[in-house]
Formats: sequence, C-alpha cells, structure tokens
Amino acid sequence: MLFPLVKDILSLAPQNQELTVRGWVRTKREMKNLVFVEINDGSCFSGIQCTFDRGAGAFAPGTEEALAALTTGASAEIRGRLVPSPASGQAAEIAVSEITVKGAAPAETYPLQKKQHSLEFLREIAHLRARTNTFGAVARVRNRLAFAVHRFFQERGFQYVNTPVITSSDAEGAGAMFRVTTLDPAKPGPAGYEGDFFGKAAFLTVSGQLEAETYACALSRVYTFGPAFRAENSNTARHLAEFWMIEPETAFAGLEDNMDLAEDFLKCLFTTALNDCAADLAFFNERIGKGVTETLKAAAASTFVRMTYTDAVRELEKAAEKSGTFEFKPYWGCDLQSEHEKFLTEKVAGGPVIVTGYPKEIKAFYMKMNDDGKTVRAMDVLVPRLGEIIGGSQREEDPEKLSRRMAELGMNAEDYSWYLDLRRYGTVPHSGFGLGFERLIQYVTGMANIRDVIPYPRAVGQAEF
Ligand code: 4AD
Ligand code: MG
Repeated sequence: MLFPLVKDILSLAPQNQELTVRGWVRTKREMKNLVFVEINDGSCFSGIQCTFDRGAGAFAPGTEEALAALTTGASAEIRGRLVPSPASGQAAEIAVSEITVKGAAPAETYPLQKKQHSLEFLREIAHLRARTNTFGAVARVRNRLAFAVHRFFQERGFQYVNTPVITSSDAEGAGAMFRVTTLDPAKPGPAGYEGDFFGKAAFLTVSGQLEAETYACALSRVYTFGPAFRAENSNTARHLAEFWMIEPETAFAGLEDNMDLAEDFLKCLFTTALNDCAADLAFFNERIGKGVTETLKAAAASTFVRMTYTDAVRELEKAAEKSGTFEFKPYWGCDLQSEHEKFLTEKVAGGPVIVTGYPKEIKAFYMKMNDDGKTVRAMDVLVPRLGEIIGGSQREEDPEKLSRRMAELGMNAEDYSWYLDLRRYGTVPHSGFGLGFERLIQYVTGMANIRDVIPYPRAVGQAEF
C-alpha cells in the first residue's frame, strides 16, 4: 500500500488526525522541553515540522534514544497528530508521539551537514546531492517537464517512438561519436571491424533524427525522447557527453510550421514550470537565478523574434565595429559563437530568437537547400543566457539533391540507402527539431552549469558513479 507523502500531508487541513511521516531529517533544533525536527521526503520543496514536546506526558520507552539518533540525514518514521502550527510559514505540523529511526547518519561522517555547500563540492557527492534543496528542486522540475513533453505531443497527435542508442550512421556529421566495440584493445586482431560484435563500425547515437524521419514518413507525426552522446571535447557549462534530447518530426510540414511548433512547445513548457513547480521556482528565483520566474513569464507571453542568419550577422557586424564587443569576429559564413547568440537574444531581441537560413557549410547534410544554393532551411532557437536551445530544419526531400549533397560531403550513399529510400518512395516535405532537455532545465531553473541539471553528468574527464 502506498502511504501518504509529505506533499499529501501538507495539503490536509490539520484536525488532530493521527498519521505517520516518513523521510530524512533536514534539521533539528532543541528549545528546553521542545525538539523541532524537519522531515523532508523529496515529494515537494518543503519539509514538515515535527514537534516533540517532552512536557506533553509519557512517551514509549526508547523515544529519547530515538530522538538523539535523529541527526541531519537520518531516516525515520514519525507518528503523531497533524495540528495547526503556531510557527509562521507553515499551516500545520506534527505533534510527535512515536519515533522509529530507520537509519542513523552519524554527524561525524555524514557529508551533507546543514552548512551551505558549493555546487562543485556537491558534484563530488552526486549520490547524496538530491537530498539538498537545490538538487531536489532540479529533480522535480526535470520530472514535471518530462511529463509535460509527453503531454504536449500526445495532445497534438504525435506518437512516441524509441530510436536506437547504438547506430552505424552519423546523423550530424560533426565527427564526435563514441565507438561501441567488444574488441579487446590488448589483443589486436585482423584490421577492420569483421571480428567486432556488429561486424561493422558502431557508435552511440548523436541523434535519433534519421530513424525518427522514417517513422514520420509512416505515422505522420512522431517524437523521440532519449539520450544522445557526443564526444565533443568542449569543457563548457552547456555541453555534456551524454544528454537527453526531444526530437519531434512532422510529415507534410515546412519550416514555418516547424518554427511555430517549436515556439508553442517551449512556451508550453515554460508555463508548465510556472504552474506546476511554483515552490521550486520560487526557490530558484530567490537563491539561484535571480529574476528567473519573470524571464519565464515574459518568454511564455512573448512572440519569439524571427530573423535570418544574414540579418543576424549584419547586426553582429554592426556591434563588432565597437572594439571589445566580441572575442570572435562575426562574418557571413561563420558559425555563431555563444557570445554572438547571447548578443542576439539579450541585446537585439530582449528574449528568445529564431534564426533561419544558415550557410549550408555549417549545417548538417540533410537540411533542405534554399533557392540561393548557399543557405539551408535551418532554424535554431536561441535564448538569453544560454544561446542555442533548439536546433532544427526542414529536411531535403528530393532524392537527387540529397544524393548530390552527400557526395559533396564525401558520405557513402550505400550506408544511407535506407534514408534515401524515404525520398525515392512516397517522399514528403517534412521538418523537425531537437530540444536539449538539460539546456531547457538550465533555462527554467537558472542553474549556471549543465552538470548540475542532470543526476550524473558525463563530460570530458568525468564519468563517476
Ligand atoms: O543542434 P543539434 O545538434 O541538432 C540535432 O541533433 C538534430 N538532429 C535535431 C533535429 O533536427 N531533430 O542538437 C539539438 C539540441 C541543441 O540545440 C542543444 O540544445 C542540444 O541538442 N545539444 C546538447 N546539449 C547538451 N550537450 C551537448 N553536447 C549538446 N549538443 C546538442
Ligand atoms: Mg545545433
């Protein structure tokens, strides 16, 4: 049987009802005959205060010993009555009658004492950091937004597909894939991959897009939500080697439809966070990213500015005339650096921006060429503070044009014959995008480092736990 969680108990009117609270001790304070223990079970931001009144009469034998063992981090079941609380900031508290300690947490060694810890230190004890206010709140926001992702797409006729984690194709062509092999590096065998598990080179996927396209060209609207892996050697606050990506793909949809969907999607996620995670967001707003709730409200109510890459570069070049604006000089053809993306969102648009029509050289092979022969029907959504949060495009649906582009890039058409088949048989215009789930969580919570919005970050030189 499921017992009530702290969030359930806190929603009740206190009427002296007998109940049991289960969780971990956050704090304990003693005032003469009164002992206040705050119990948190992670079900919501706040804990529940349990007040033990030594003056209230006789308690079961062993209660004083149990109370002594209730140090920060200990787990317990506490029985008592739910009564109105005289303390400010809480409507109800538990008048304790019985304490059962489940597991002690000796104060001499428990790493998470009451004092403030740095996020860097907490990363080293990632197995315990979910017990802190910050990481509990991140976990709850992640959970709620994952739910909202499914709800958003399910309500609009998109079907959830599971694309492979191990793949032999390189969707993004960025050359940043992890190899998957069972070959023993200590025992060199014959050259090539014949003796390897899959009989060919295999990798962890960088994106489920290509496989998602095959399902979109059968089920019309699909989306993926799964892990993606990139071996980019970028030690930044916005890159992980393992991250989660949401990739919708829509048949019979062009770039405009794709931009509309991306904008609706983000706004819906922002609104969900504001509505469903109010207590957690209030904490982030006050302690982590000042003003983050206002930013979310404004973005949710705004119309995203849309501009072409060419116009964006013009704005950047104008700004670069004043020396010292950028570390990297902007020019037509350059890949936008995160300082450029920040400038466009923070200084030019004052909010999210959708940039379209990037030069083909800096984008993936599958994007549909514009009539100018130089730019592709790409769309990146940029947000203040982070830069790129979504990358997407209309896909090339013409088999000849796609083959030509692949040949230009030196790709082996045989490896992608299945992908070209989509264009050979019943081809349709189709579009999609990828939202980096951790970037979304960073934006919503105001957390500065992407390593602090995923339970166990994997990045260059980091794969602990
Ligand atoms: O722009 P990207 O590379 O696009 C794709 O992978 C396409 N296949 C998507 C599609 O059209 N279906 O990646 C999409 C998003 C980025 O905008 C970013 O938010 C996130 O994925 N992302 C990363 N997040 C964390 N760490 C990394 N190393 C990331 N690389 C990309
Ligand atoms: Mg991108």
